[in-house]
Amino acid sequence: MSLTSQDVQMEAYSEAVKSGLYAKRSGLVGKYDNVRKHWEDEVTRHFICPYVSALLDRCQQSMRRLRIMDFGCGSADGYELLMGIRHRDAGLHESKVDLLSADKVGCYKGVDLSGDLLEQAESIYSDNPKVIFEQGDFTKGLSLKKDEKPYDLYFTSYGTFSHHNEDETLVQLLADIAGTCQDYCLIIGDWLGRYSYEWQSLWTNDLNENRNMDYIVSYIYSKEEREQRRDELQHLQLRLMSRQEIAAIVSAAGKKAGVEIKPVKFFDRSVFTGRHMDTGEYNPYAQPLREAVNSLHEPNVRTNLSTLIVNYAPKAGFEFINGYFEHLQMCWNTLVNYTQTLMETYDRDAASFKSAHLAVPASYPADLREMMERMLQVVEGVGWLNTGLPRENVIEPQLGYALRYLVSRLQQGQGCAHGLVGVFEVNKK
Ligand SMILES: C[S@@+](CC[C@H](N)C(=O)[O-])C[C@H]1O[C@@H](n2cnc3c(N)ncnc32)[C@H](O)[C@@H]1O
Repeated sequence: MSLTSQDVQMEAYSEAVKSGLYAKRSGLVGKYDNVRKHWEDEVTRHFICPYVSALLDRCQQSMRRLRIMDFGCGSADGYELLMGIRHRDAGLHESKVDLLSADKVGCYKGVDLSGDLLEQAESIYSDNPKVIFEQGDFTKGLSLKKDEKPYDLYFTSYGTFSHHNEDETLVQLLADIAGTCQDYCLIIGDWLGRYSYEWQSLWTNDLNENRNMDYIVSYIYSKEEREQRRDELQHLQLRLMSRQEIAAIVSAAGKKAGVEIKPVKFFDRSVFTGRHMDTGEYNPYAQPLREAVNSLHEPNVRTNLSTLIVNYAPKAGFEFINGYFEHLQMCWNTLVNYTQTLMETYDRDAASFKSAHLAVPASYPADLREMMERMLQVVEGVGWLNTGLPRENVIEPQLGYALRYLVSRLQQGQGCAHGLVGVFEVNKK
């Protein structure tokens, strides 16, 4: 039976729907929400950029291309993350801004236990011969084939090393890497932070006691769906880590291999915006701050700024950590309130502020002052626009970036966030 022209047209729509590319995309929810795209990926890139850049220079000096191994690669998000690192100081006029251009990468090998995720990864990168995948278990140590050269960058992302529930398996993997390294390599390890506010009920002081949490991947569902599906949700055992515990493991691995594995950077990622802030599964005082920040970055959506105000609940016996969170809370809230005041006192017709009391106190921390001054420039710069939704599409995303800057500058790499990332080098020269 021949199809009528109307049927043919409908086929075109059905095809588009089946491709998945016709779906409504929102940055408000899901794995790739706005916080993941604009905060987590970018903060990771920001902190690792200088080390990856120096590694590239080393490869260039020895006339080699960069070789990357990604442990727990899943569907190869790590490849995307790395390839998205930009040159730090690229000018506005430049169009080639990627640090890792395709010609500089010799090989990316992703290793994962999950056949389903590897299948997904392979389907995405099937046309790229330099991107390869292998099923393997990183808790069994490093497995290189007989003729396989060691890698320059051993990478993990988004809490993957927390799948090492015991010290021994990670010590072995790191010792294998250090032992097989020829001259130099970089290791980037990504764990869940031991003292993230979102799981405050799990905090303990005794670092000799390993902390493995029962992690529920419930955040990808809405609140209602989460409740309905509660019994069928998958649980993972994931290790929560502090900087001291990682440093001890790395030092033990270095001793085992007879080569120093030197920590060169630790940073906390997603201090107030971890995924479980929204679920409140592990902290009854957690506020849905990720949802609020997602909203700041969502085009055409107006955010009620009062949803961003943090009311940190201290935990007795953790004074140092409480002090850190309280200071951050004060800076964060001050910036949010100041932005609200700027918007309230801006007179669009006169294109100026109605109040003269907007000066930033000199006693405030420098990073906060800088961001307050930036927000003043932003509101003044676009407040008079009456097209294009200046609040929703310019001021709110800029407030998001200003908060991101503040959190990144004030973090201490101690494990006080959803993610704790460590950068380590092995240098045999
Ligand atoms: C938190 S996900 C991160 C996935 C991906 N790297 C990303 O950034 O989105 C952890 C990944 O580690 C993998 N994984 C867990 N235990 C593993 C093991 N023992 N060996 C290899 N892969 C493992 C999981 O299948 C999953 O893909």
